Amino acid sequence: MRRKLVVGNWKMHGSRPANAELLAELLGARPYGADVAVCVPFVYLGDTAAQLARSDVGWGAQDVSAHASGAYTGEVSAAMLQECGCRYAIVGHSERRAYHAESDELVAAKAQAALGRGITPVVCVGETLAQRDAGETEAVVKRQLSAVIHTLAHCAAEMVVAYEPVWAIGTGRTASPEQAQAVHAVLRAQLQAATGHAGRMRILYGGSVKADNAAALFAMPDIDGGLIGGASLKAADFIAICRAA
Ligand code: 13P
Repeated sequence: MRRKLVVGNWKMHGSRPANAELLAELLGARPYGADVAVCVPFVYLGDTAAQLARSDVGWGAQDVSAHASGAYTGEVSAAMLQECGCRYAIVGHSERRAYHAESDELVAAKAQAALGRGITPVVCVGETLAQRDAGETEAVVKRQLSAVIHTLAHCAAEMVVAYEPVWAIGTGRTASPEQAQAVHAVLRAQLQAATGHAGRMRILYGGSVKADNAAALFAMPDIDGGLIGGASLKAADFIAICRAA
């Protein structure tokens, strides 16, 4: 039996006072019947770690460098994230693939760098609307995931996968539970063939998850929780989603 996981992706939002208030509310609403974490901008990791320390709410980053160290201005290494107590690092978010030209191979290298420091990579895959309309959804997500599986090899079962259809992100247009389940089943079959341990791996859904649609999505057999953008910034909404899990 897989324990559900709900991860908030704050993206480039927040401020020190707003974060402190949000996290205090999140802590106050415990316990949750699921694993809960927030992935915050790098500069807030120290504050977040201090506030969430000794709680069962985890924290993580939204990206990680593929490099261990060196002359890579602006990059943050997995070792640095480890020092900040990160349990998770999102890699391959569609916004990074689109705006920073991240390739499948780079995403795989980032996942490997995270795992090398004991940080669980939350590997995002998902098709654009044009790809869905062209009937390419399966091929796209399988290609994106297979690059990571290949690179992580025998450690592949340690990642968390997040299916985030690009057309559902920040648009208010959620995949239906059935649409999401269909892709999750494909991903789990691929993970099973590669690792033999897909039964214990978590596959999250992301894309306009809200308090009022979370329960139906999380009820699907292969949806093991959510990666939450906009709704993770409002305490009441995020708490409701965590409870739905
Ligand atoms: P929204 O929940 O705002 O659609 O964002 C989803 C997402 O990109 C999470 O990583």
